[in-house]
Amino acid sequence: MLDTFGRRVEYLRVSVTDKCNLRCTYCMPMEGMPWMRRDELLTYEEITSIVRIMAGMGLRRVRITGGEPLVRRDLPELVSMLKGIPGIDDLSLSTNAVLLEEHARALRDAGIDRVNVSLDSLRAERVEAIARRPGSFPRIMAGLDAAEAAGFAPLKINVVLIRGVNDDEIEDFAAITRERPWHVRFIELMPTGSNLDLSARQFFSCTEALRRLRAVEELEPVEGPPGNGPATYHRFPGAPGTVGAITPMSHNYCDRCNRMRLTADGHLRPCLFGELQTNLRDPLRAGADIVPFIDETLRIKPERHHLVQGSDAGSGGLVALSQTGG
Ligand code: 5AD
Ligand code: SF4
Repeated sequence: MLDTFGRRVEYLRVSVTDKCNLRCTYCMPMEGMPWMRRDELLTYEEITSIVRIMAGMGLRRVRITGGEPLVRRDLPELVSMLKGIPGIDDLSLSTNAVLLEEHARALRDAGIDRVNVSLDSLRAERVEAIARRPGSFPRIMAGLDAAEAAGFAPLKINVVLIRGVNDDEIEDFAAITRERPWHVRFIELMPTGSNLDLSARQFFSCTEALRRLRAVEELEPVEGPPGNGPATYHRFPGAPGTVGAITPMSHNYCDRCNRMRLTADGHLRPCLFGELQTNLRDPLRAGADIVPFIDETLRIKPERHHLVQGSDAGSGGLVALSQTGG
């Protein structure tokens, strides 16, 4: 699958639900969102059909996302179904880890190769204030332990930087990479309809985070773990883990974009942001050939996003990343 800018698309992020058991301040409003109806959601069979067709077109890697994917029932079933598709050689999961302790083993057995966990602070009271869910911190920690015990490696930890909230923990997060083989990735806050104030006032760039870390000790650029994502990786000398930077705002990496997204209600999105999406669900349910719809989505994949700090101009009406799987 080559787009009109010569980028090879071989990675699909599959959102299995728009619901979440947390309410991170930068993501979702406290009251939640108008949820998708059940009959609007793709069934596991429908997701599998779409992935199988795309695998025939060159898709190689799939990441399961949400909302929070573990709130959807029987997720390991979908994992085994996707695992059986010829051509898909890497299956991963992004989760907030609240439910991971219960499911890590089954997910591993079903065929998940790698997990990414969102963790914005190392302090219980902060995590629970950001996630707006008291009691979530111990469950997330238990989820991380379970992920390690189940043999998920490399473990990637996503930290969304928020000025005045967790920017004083940059050094603490990076220190973990000296002890454990974790890949801690700092993410720049992206503006969406529900976080305009926060993303405008409390933005913290990865450039500044890396500058702070270099003041502690030199950081060498490294290849990073498998995943081919937009992150750039760095390492303290001799450390088992790495520090990553995901810089949608300060350094655009769209020229290396290798992905599309499938929303929980069956729309194929060529870009995280913007209004472009193709309804695959209705033609699939009508028994039509969806290959032309996939080709067309590839053809309209934009060159880059146009996010603007403090504005929802570039987000294409997106209220929260939970709607598209981040
Ligand atoms: N800006 C940056 N990152 C975000 N995430 C969710 N919303 C935003 C946003 N507006 C992160 C989550 C998760 C990843 C999939 O995206 O914390 O780690
Ligand atoms: Fe849920 Fe992820 Fe959004 Fe937080 S960022 S509310 S964990 S979907």
